[in-house]
Amino acid sequence: MCRLTSPSHETVYGRSVLAKNPDHPGSLGIAISEAVELAVQREDTKYALGSVLNHVLLHQTIIGQEAMLQMQMANDWPDVVVGCAGGGSNLAGIAFPFIGHGLRGGQKPRIVAVEPAACPTLTRGKYAYDFGDTGHMTPLTKMYTLGSQFTPPGFHAGGLRYHGMAPLVSHCKALGLLEAVAYDQVACFEAGVLFARNEGIVPAPESNHAIKGAIEEAMRCKREGKAETILFCLSGHGHFDMTSYQKYFAGELTDEHYDETELALALASLPNVPETV
Ligand SMILES: Cc1ncc(COP(=O)(O)O)c(C=O)c1O
Repeated sequence: MCRLTSPSHETVYGRSVLAKNPDHPGSLGIAISEAVELAVQREDTKYALGSVLNHVLLHQTIIGQEAMLQMQMANDWPDVVVGCAGGGSNLAGIAFPFIGHGLRGGQKPRIVAVEPAACPTLTRGKYAYDFGDTGHMTPLTKMYTLGSQFTPPGFHAGGLRYHGMAPLVSHCKALGLLEAVAYDQVACFEAGVLFARNEGIVPAPESNHAIKGAIEEAMRCKREGKAETILFCLSGHGHFDMTSYQKYFAGELTDEHYDETELALALASLPNVPETV
């Protein structure tokens, strides 16, 4: 096993990225290209693309299936289901069983995908064919995308710094089966700290987005004088993300903004695939 920080000097693609910008903050799209490049050169290595592909989403639906059983035990059912969205797998994991249940005639909760304002794939992206990686080694997939050449700014939720979105999550968004919102990182850390102080669990910066989404839903209920059941996915703990919490408490964590011109350029360079495909 080898552990590399992407972009690395170990791959042709990583070196090409660093040659253009030695301080490149990296992205999931670049890390995928480097991993695929290494895997194709080695007999003993295979690469399994995670997070966005159907089998990964299917695997994660155990989260929603268990949540359904727990809801039944509590004699309740969610009005809203919230998850953070990077590649889309934990969101799909918690939400797809509920979407399926709703499509088969059951109660239909609202599904809310929460993404970072600095990498707003579902809220600002195009629904189009694109590469899953920056170096264009993966097949094309139809998904919401900010363009494979889009580099998200270096905010502290690495797992959400991805230009694309799972095709199945994208399809559900296009069909109106789920909604998407985007929040800045400082507001998400505020929500995560509130959660940690109340629940004794330090959430991952990615999960802070789902917590922020759930809190916003609760505040809406309060404003509207409604009682609703809000279910959200706490996708991971933040034990390896203490540096970002330290920065937050030192007042050094700021909101990161992407460059609109860079987004426009990345969207303009999407592969040209005829609509009929
Ligand atoms: C804790 C955590 N939550 C969420 C995500 C986002 O991925 P996905 O949208 O595929 O669930 C990641 C990705 O690395 C993660 O580490």
